[in-house]
Amino acid sequence: MLLQEKRIAIFNIANKRSIAWAIAKAMDAQGARLILGYQNERTKGSVMDLAKELTHSPVAILPCDVSFPEQIDALQDTVRKEAGTIHGLVHSLAFAPRESLQNAYLFTEREHFLTALEISTYSLVALARALTPVFSDKASVTTLTYYGAEKVMPSYNVMGVAKAALEASVRYLAHDLGPAGVRVNAISAGPINTVAARGVSGFLDILEVHAAKAPLKRTVEGSEVGGTAAFLASDLASGITGEVIYVDTGYNIMGF
Ligand SMILES: NC(=O)c1ccc[n+]([C@@H]2O[C@H](COP(=O)([O-])OP(=O)(O)OC[C@H]3O[C@@H](n4cnc5c(N)ncnc54)[C@H](O)[C@@H]3O)[C@@H](O)[C@H]2O)c1
Repeated sequence: MLLQEKRIAIFNIANKRSIAWAIAKAMDAQGARLILGYQNERTKGSVMDLAKELTHSPVAILPCDVSFPEQIDALQDTVRKEAGTIHGLVHSLAFAPRESLQNAYLFTEREHFLTALEISTYSLVALARALTPVFSDKASVTTLTYYGAEKVMPSYNVMGVAKAALEASVRYLAHDLGPAGVRVNAISAGPINTVAARGVSGFLDILEVHAAKAPLKRTVEGSEVGGTAAFLASDLASGITGEVIYVDTGYNIMGF
């Protein structure tokens, strides 16, 4: 029970395949009490249904569309009212317009670039800032990134650029929040078949190549990402901040 007595907010769950849901289940199994986020009315119902599967009923289930700054700002008061303080924030959300994940990166339109960076990267900064006043001592912030931040994954395009900025944001936020005892880390997850991932052209090929080349000869399970997120939020990880931790069955170590 690594997370007994800890309250952790997770943004956002879309459905049972979401990495955020795998993280919620892993944290619930370690005794955490959760605040679960959903983007809109379309996904609210499935989060409500999934929440019934948890051992500990959620502290709250809250809307959070990060393209509306007022929704992010409202979270501070809502979280204070529902939970008092929280011991962790999980940022597991991203978006880029479909066209930008299909053509060559060279043709990325300005609007698509700005959208991808706002939703996938700036949202971490905005959420961390909004929730800092309700963080307990030694709170932990964890976000989700991908190897396409470092190496070219054809079609990942602007999302790779957004993830590179996200990983840099992790380091800058770790520096800013460290004096208050708050840790900030990213998990670089291997490819998992989710709604967001299927928006990347050729995603099924990525899964196949990953399983063939990774040292463990398979793709990663959501539960394995969930387990690492639970560890990072726990006191066992108290000395880790500003890091990108790979949970990718070892794919990133390969040169050939
Ligand atoms: N699936 C993979 O292969 C993989 C690998 C590495 C990292 N990731 C990252 O994991 C995170 C979760 O993605 P996932 O694969 O579980 O897919 P998912 O589609 O299940 O989750 C994406 C989430 O982003 C939310 N979202 C999109 N636009 C939003 C907005 N404007 N405001 C608030 N929320 C918004 C969606 O509602 C959804 O809950 C993302 O950051 C993704 O880039 C995924």
